[in-house]
Amino acid sequence: MTRAEILRVDPLRPDPGAIERAAAILRAGGLVAFPTETVYGLGAHARDAAAVDGIFRAKGRPADNPLIVHVDGTDAAAALTSEWTPLAGALAASFWPGPLTLVLDAAPGLAPAVSAGLGTVAVRVPRHPVALALLRAAGVPVAAPSANRSGRPSPTTAAHVLADLGETIDALVDGGACPVGIESTVVDARGTTPVLLREGWVTREALGAVAEASAEGLRTSPGTHHRHYRPACAVRLADPGTAASVASGLAADGLRVGLVAREGAPAGVVDVGRFADPAELAERLYDLLRRAEDLGVEAVVVETVAEDGIGRAVMDRLRRAAED
Ligand code: TXA
Ligand code: MG
Repeated sequence: MTRAEILRVDPLRPDPGAIERAAAILRAGGLVAFPTETVYGLGAHARDAAAVDGIFRAKGRPADNPLIVHVDGTDAAAALTSEWTPLAGALAASFWPGPLTLVLDAAPGLAPAVSAGLGTVAVRVPRHPVALALLRAAGVPVAAPSANRSGRPSPTTAAHVLADLGETIDALVDGGACPVGIESTVVDARGTTPVLLREGWVTREALGAVAEASAEGLRTSPGTHHRHYRPACAVRLADPGTAASVASGLAADGLRVGLVAREGAPAGVVDVGRFADPAELAERLYDLLRRAEDLGVEAVVVETVAEDGIGRAVMDRLRRAAED
């Protein structure tokens, strides 16, 4: 079933032997999936072109979609850029380690595919103790997209990673479920105001002044327009309070239907999972989409949330999961 070497670690006290083993595989050019606070990443040595090519092959990722480079601290991040702006310094001081990714002009030396020919590099210092321990032990910058097959929901558990990539990666560091559950916020930090390229766990409200990305800006952040986050079943969105009846209607048409909502599932509908508030849906969203497909439903109806705070990132992912 799987050829990946599995290294189980306690997320609060990662075993140095297991971390060193994973770090050695990374340094040698292997592919290692590992937990971050947001989602599992699929890591490779960011200066090793063959290793980085392996990420694109394993994921089936389009070559025009650049990768986030993960490092263990601000100095290491700044060293990957040709101009570390005052804005980058301020954002790093406020949000790192944590789920914010900064796009800056790239210094030479990274594998070309990391930047997808854009001349920029996206950098992030994660706060998950396993990710930090691994980055420290590796001693090299680690390019890491989410560890799913391209187009699928991001992985928030080791089982999700194995389901998508167990055959194609060298190792998986299993540190349990990711606590945040939704990806980092991506901003262009080359100017004086952060330009929002992808909504994520760090909200607009937390960032303060934010500029909207131009169409051209979004073109250079291709992850925002590629097909993404889709499970094997169809995803239908329903306004608050209407999800159970929408699901019942689809079930009456003869479909096997699942429900993700604040309320429970009516008779004839599969209860995929309930959530109390947008933050809980953010944390569990990808797991619930994968659970819906594991339960064999043909369509899952998901109740929407208000588009403020973390609700914006949740609705961004849900809309793209639901696209035809
Ligand atoms: O939370 C996260 O960010 C996770 C964990 C593993 O760190 N990573 C992640 O990577 O979500 P990925 O590859 O699934 O999404 C990266 C996003 C994409 O939308 C991509 O287009 C954008 O970041 N991106 C990467 N490098 C960029 C660059 N140089 N310029 C603009 N956008 C960039
Ligand atoms: Mg991704």
